[in-house]
Amino acid sequence: MGFLMCGFAKRAILDAKVVAGYAHPLRTVRHLLSGKVVLTFTIKDSKQKIEQICQRVKQGESCAIVLTGDACFSEKELLQKIPCDFEIIPGISSIQVAAARCGVSLDKAHVLTLHESGERELLEQKLREVVDSIKRSKPVLLLPRPYDLMPNEIASLLISFGAPKHTTVRVYENLTLENETQTQATLASLPRKTYSDLTVMVINV
Ligand SMILES: C[S@@+](CC[C@H](N)C(=O)[O-])C[C@H]1O[C@@H](n2cnc3c(N)ncnc32)[C@H](O)[C@@H]1O
Repeated sequence: MGFLMCGFAKRAILDAKVVAGYAHPLRTVRHLLSGKVVLTFTIKDSKQKIEQICQRVKQGESCAIVLTGDACFSEKELLQKIPCDFEIIPGISSIQVAAARCGVSLDKAHVLTLHESGERELLEQKLREVVDSIKRSKPVLLLPRPYDLMPNEIASLLISFGAPKHTTVRVYENLTLENETQTQATLASLPRKTYSDLTVMVINV
């Protein structure tokens, strides 16, 4: 969401000597990275690379870690890997962009991520709560979990837990990027395809 980045985040990147992150967020800020030490990490080596960054911070270097959207939404696992003091600069979440695309008030919606749902029981509990929201006519904004829990499987699970088949669903892919798309359907008719890892589902709107 390079174009939606707030001024404070831009300033922090420009002031940093070292800028780190996963490949996708680093790509969105590539225009700010000239002359920087850039550390790209993957899920496998993120803990080790973040420890290296904290060593640099302890030696007095300025470092910025770039995340997508808002660092306080669906990023807990990564934040917990940072073993030194840091400041969180708020960002605009993919959830907020999806809410804006379909005119949903966040304060009236059930917002959740399946990224950190871990065990099957917790996942099932989260999806049963979604079904309750659907039955109470509450809109649901949900991040799937690439790639083991994607929109088609989520739609099938919701139906199996009692959600009406005709419940509306919108799948937003690649929000704010050049290849942004939207698919509108019902839980039962959601096209079976490979959805992007950058996907937000809006249900019951
Ligand atoms: C680890 S979570 C991070 C969420 C992020 N902190 C936020 O506030 O949007 C990653 C998930 O965010 C969602 N996401 C991030 N950027 C997106 C985009 N441009 N379009 C759609 N979904 C996106 C996807 O569901 C992706 O799998």
